[in-house]
Amino acid sequence: MAVDLLLGLQWGDEGKGKIVDVLTKNYDIIARFQGGPNAGHTLIFDGHKHVLHTIPSGIFHDTALNVVGNGVVIDPVIFKRELENLDKHNINYTEKLLISRKAHLILPTHRLLDAASETSKGKAKIGSTLKGIGPTYMDKTGRNGMRVGDLELENWRDKYQSLTAKHIKMLDFFDVDIQYDLKELEEEFCAGVEKLRTLQFIDSEEFLNNAIKEKKTILAEGAQGSLLDIDFGTYPFVTSSNTTAAGACTGLGVAPNRIGDVFGIFKAYTTRVGSGPFPTELFDEDGATMAKVGHEFGATTGRPRRCGWLDLVALKYAIQVNGVTQLMMMKGDVLSGFDTIKVCTSYKYKGEEITHLPYNIEPENVTPIFTEFKGWEKDLTSLTEENQLPESLMSYIEFIEKETEVPIKIVSVGPDRKQTILR
Ligand code: IMP
Repeated sequence: MAVDLLLGLQWGDEGKGKIVDVLTKNYDIIARFQGGPNAGHTLIFDGHKHVLHTIPSGIFHDTALNVVGNGVVIDPVIFKRELENLDKHNINYTEKLLISRKAHLILPTHRLLDAASETSKGKAKIGSTLKGIGPTYMDKTGRNGMRVGDLELENWRDKYQSLTAKHIKMLDFFDVDIQYDLKELEEEFCAGVEKLRTLQFIDSEEFLNNAIKEKKTILAEGAQGSLLDIDFGTYPFVTSSNTTAAGACTGLGVAPNRIGDVFGIFKAYTTRVGSGPFPTELFDEDGATMAKVGHEFGATTGRPRRCGWLDLVALKYAIQVNGVTQLMMMKGDVLSGFDTIKVCTSYKYKGEEITHLPYNIEPENVTPIFTEFKGWEKDLTSLTEENQLPESLMSYIEFIEKETEVPIKIVSVGPDRKQTILR
């Protein structure tokens, strides 16, 4: 059986959590493959809003098993809070949440290093969520990191102490004032570790490959978006992991020839949180309306998201890098009421019109060229069938399908599980 992938095609916050939740009933296993608590996956059903950071979005379903893969970085402190939130809703996770021994741990000092690095960059800062993601992946690739499997060793505290001591020395390198109480941080970390140790640690690559042999259905859940990928995103304004399809192979130990469908999630417009180039960004009333109607505030940090029109140049790039087989368009409802809807179909770059994503997409290098569509007035949020969608929205959908050569299989018209139109 193949492993299907679900990933974001823009700068994150596309609505992956909702779609995993909608699709979970078709899968035996949901596996997160990269990122960590920098993610915020929002799910709304039965009148409750849930935000997950590290735990796969299949946790609310009765039958699916949820795997936190080796490519994920786990902060035991935040993870404990996530579990306590599940406790409040009587979600029994002990039997259905499995953690890879090879996943790396975010130490409190990783968070301090993140803050010091960002502060020292001044105006050039990445706009990181400050969850310690960058420093943890640096320790992973630098071969210094601490992994979940280490917590099964007698001497895990020694390893923790020596890595922490190294980090404290590194903090001195950044000439910035970062306040912290190491003892308090350590107590919090140890409490998080104790909670984490109540869960099942597994050799996740073995587990998943056996599941494939047993013909179990698996959905790999990505975090962030393709344009935040460490290799293919808008570097250096990116996260520190491979958010694209290849990241699912390395982040779960699943071979490329085991990948089946690749579901690409995108918003009907574009948002970005944090710094970095964004060619179709709006600084006018239209952008403010998108932000307001779309409640565009980060699920993890609460920061306002920057908003702009859909960028097909960037979307096609993401579709190519990921091998997307089905598209899912989110938040179409937010565009109701605009007289004109714009889509960027090419860039003006060095005096020429181009349709691929160049190396530099800063405002001084590219100017977006738009195709315009007639807007629609109709409120979409209570629609359930494709034939109820306004004609101008259908033209917009069909144009995107023609340009990308990939079918749009789901049109989401609101945050609730029920506000989902299947095509
Ligand atoms: P970091 O991964 O927290 O270091 O953040 C690096 C960049 O990725 C920043 O611009 C963040 O705003 C952005 N980022 C990280 N995680 C997410 C996410 O889940 N959604 C949207 N943007 C994110």
